[in-house]
Amino acid sequence: MTNQPSSLEAQLLTLRQEGESAIAASDNLERLEELRVSYLGKKGQLGLLLRTMGKLSAEERPKVGAVANTVKEAIQAALEKQRESLEAAKIQAQLEAETIDVTMPGIYRPQGRIHPLNGIIDRALDIFVGLGYTVASGPEMETDYYNFEALNTPPDHPARDMQDTFYLPDGNLLRTHTSSVQIRFMEAEEPPIRIIAPGRVYRRDNVDATHAAVFHQLELLAVDEGLTFTDLKGTIKEFLQQMFGELPIRFRASYFPFTEPSAEVDLQWNGRWLEVMGCGMVDPNVLKAVGYDPEIYTGFAAGFGVERFAMVLHQLDDIRRVYTSDLRFLRQF
Ligand code: DAH
Repeated sequence: MTNQPSSLEAQLLTLRQEGESAIAASDNLERLEELRVSYLGKKGQLGLLLRTMGKLSAEERPKVGAVANTVKEAIQAALEKQRESLEAAKIQAQLEAETIDVTMPGIYRPQGRIHPLNGIIDRALDIFVGLGYTVASGPEMETDYYNFEALNTPPDHPARDMQDTFYLPDGNLLRTHTSSVQIRFMEAEEPPIRIIAPGRVYRRDNVDATHAAVFHQLELLAVDEGLTFTDLKGTIKEFLQQMFGELPIRFRASYFPFTEPSAEVDLQWNGRWLEVMGCGMVDPNVLKAVGYDPEIYTGFAAGFGVERFAMVLHQLDDIRRVYTSDLRFLRQF
């Protein structure tokens, strides 16, 4: 009987030693949980040993009980300590696995660009919208009436020649300028009018470095009571300065069937005078054609080629470059 208590005590201490070293050796949280169940669980090893305490004498029981408590606490402490270190190691491993190497080269994503012609159109529209204009448009297939007749262009005018205009089998044509939008807009609306109309136009030109059969124009029209040539000059000057910067400009007397008086505008660029647009006061015959009273209303109009602006602004040597979709060219913008 005297051996028994000390033998239980010894068993408890052995259990503690085994437990502590098994816990310290466990390398994952699942294994640690298994050890907890195995030592401290309901049917665990500590419980099994304690069940034999009943056989101890009354004076030995508290002593062994105290030892049992320290064993239990020691195993609990060992479990807790190991859990903390395994959890820390787990987080550390995760952090290492998810580390981003910021020095690695990125994934290249090609970026689109605005085509130089659209760039010019966008800028011009922005400027005119800033001046209170509205963007308008019209059809590319037109009738003789909207493209020529209502624009006061006489039947013998060279622009109406088969040589210069694409006529369609049905007698319609591909508009030779965006001025046709003036007529369509005025027919539909009443003054005051301030519009800017971008669009594609067609001419039977032989294609070369400065000519294309299809190109783009921007058309300007303002109709109101009391508009004068001074308003036209001020508007064009403001536009050209916002577009090209503070460069010298000059107005040269010219002729267009739909304006009277008419002018061409030149811009001094790299020491040379370049013709950049046509303009003038809307001819009274044009106002009459849309049912406006030229005694009450006056207007001014202007038209210019988008490709021409692009060639000047970007110093292009050949108009065909803007149509060939050559990425080596387009990536420069
Ligand atoms: N329509 C003319 C052309 O294609 C350009 C033009 C000149 C438009 C004078 C106008 C203008 O509105 O007033 O060459």
